[in-house]
Amino acid sequence: MQRPLTANIRPNAPPPDCAAYERAGGYQAMRRALLQMTPADVVGEVTKSGLRGRGGAGFGTGQKWSFVPKRKPGRRSYLIANADEMEPGTFKDRLLLEGDPHQMIEAVIVSAYAVGATDGYIFVRGEYKLAIARLTQAIGEAHAAGYLGEDILGSGYSLNLHIHASAGRYICGEETALLTALEGRRAQPRNKPPFPQVSGLWGAPSVVNNVETLCNIPHIIANGADWFKSLGRGADGGTKLYGISGRVKRPGTWELPIGTPMREILEEHAGGMQDGYQLRALLPGGASTAFLGADQLDTAMDYGSVEKAGSRLGTGSAIVLDDRSCPVGMICNLEHFFAQESCGWCTPCRDGLPWVERMLRALEDGDGEDEDLHQLQRHVGLLGPGRTFCAHAPGAMAPLESGLRHFRDEFERHVRERHCSWR
Ligand code: NAI
Repeated sequence: MQRPLTANIRPNAPPPDCAAYERAGGYQAMRRALLQMTPADVVGEVTKSGLRGRGGAGFGTGQKWSFVPKRKPGRRSYLIANADEMEPGTFKDRLLLEGDPHQMIEAVIVSAYAVGATDGYIFVRGEYKLAIARLTQAIGEAHAAGYLGEDILGSGYSLNLHIHASAGRYICGEETALLTALEGRRAQPRNKPPFPQVSGLWGAPSVVNNVETLCNIPHIIANGADWFKSLGRGADGGTKLYGISGRVKRPGTWELPIGTPMREILEEHAGGMQDGYQLRALLPGGASTAFLGADQLDTAMDYGSVEKAGSRLGTGSAIVLDDRSCPVGMICNLEHFFAQESCGWCTPCRDGLPWVERMLRALEDGDGEDEDLHQLQRHVGLLGPGRTFCAHAPGAMAPLESGLRHFRDEFERHVRERHCSWR
């Protein structure tokens, strides 16, 4: 099985330095792109590969890049790696950043060249201190090797690359809030359109891509779009970093062909449920995706199949709910997180999420009423897609809406028995 993204990553070993990365074939894709391909060739190859965004939304990467207007001489433009990984249960980008920082840097150089960016940023979650230290060192090595800065490899292309540590809010990972944060202002999302590709950082064309998405780029350039497509098990191409947390025997992250069934990830890679626990349901792609039931384990983990099953692939990092934990308590915990992380800009999100949390807490504390179930259902609509400024509140409604469907009897039991029997 091919694992291009994690090929250089060894558990508990330091990451390859520049020389070791090059010995493993690193920086060859950069040479190929900058010396033998035009930016349009690179965009064309990535479009042909069918690569879709690995941050959660699954937007076509080549398509996103094609929206960048033609570069005007003297005008700045930006390529930004979104490394602000804060989705609960998701720790895949951290593996790539800590384990192979030169892969990230090569990915940024090739992608920035493709979209004509003058400057690159890696916007990293502030707590990822080891990743920040390793990236900083790797950027220094790349500069010394002539892979960053002016006239890279004599190609005429120049790129400045900066690291920015996030101030630490979940909303900073939302691409427009991220841009506002990079500008040094309070991280509030902006309206889309205009999309960042047209008007982003300081109003200039800006492309924001997730870490895992970008790390695929050098491999696509080195091996071609057809090779990339052949890695997937279903309709999508490439590999995917899948993860599982919860009461499984071996929680972790694994690079597997995209389209690997959930059952295989859970049973073969995570070692199955811990002894004495049964699977009740799972969130397949982080906290802002809808529950899949235990009877949906054969769902292939690709974009289309998970959507058909009623959820989203999201980050591909699943959170498992077992049969000895309270579903209402789990959802309450998630909504507490979402309420706390609302940026407060739009009313439905700022006021709605705390209400949702309060109603769930009341159910858990034995103070819930029938009316609360009706109100929770109503809030799913009030905070749903199209009602708020960004995807934060609609994402928060995904586990609630699906939880009300999957665990209706549990919610009703909390009201009827006036306590949580799982405590
Ligand atoms: P989105 O669907 O609005 O946009 C996705 C990307 O496609 C963006 O870069 C956007 O600029 C681009 N795009 C979409 N429509 C476009 C159009 N018509 N023209 C040009 N570009 C277009 O989704 P969003 O709000 O960026 O991300 C939401 C996702 O983020 C959720 O699915 C969630 O799973 C994920 N997420 C991931 C986190 C993490 O830590 N990795 C944290 C929180 C959420």
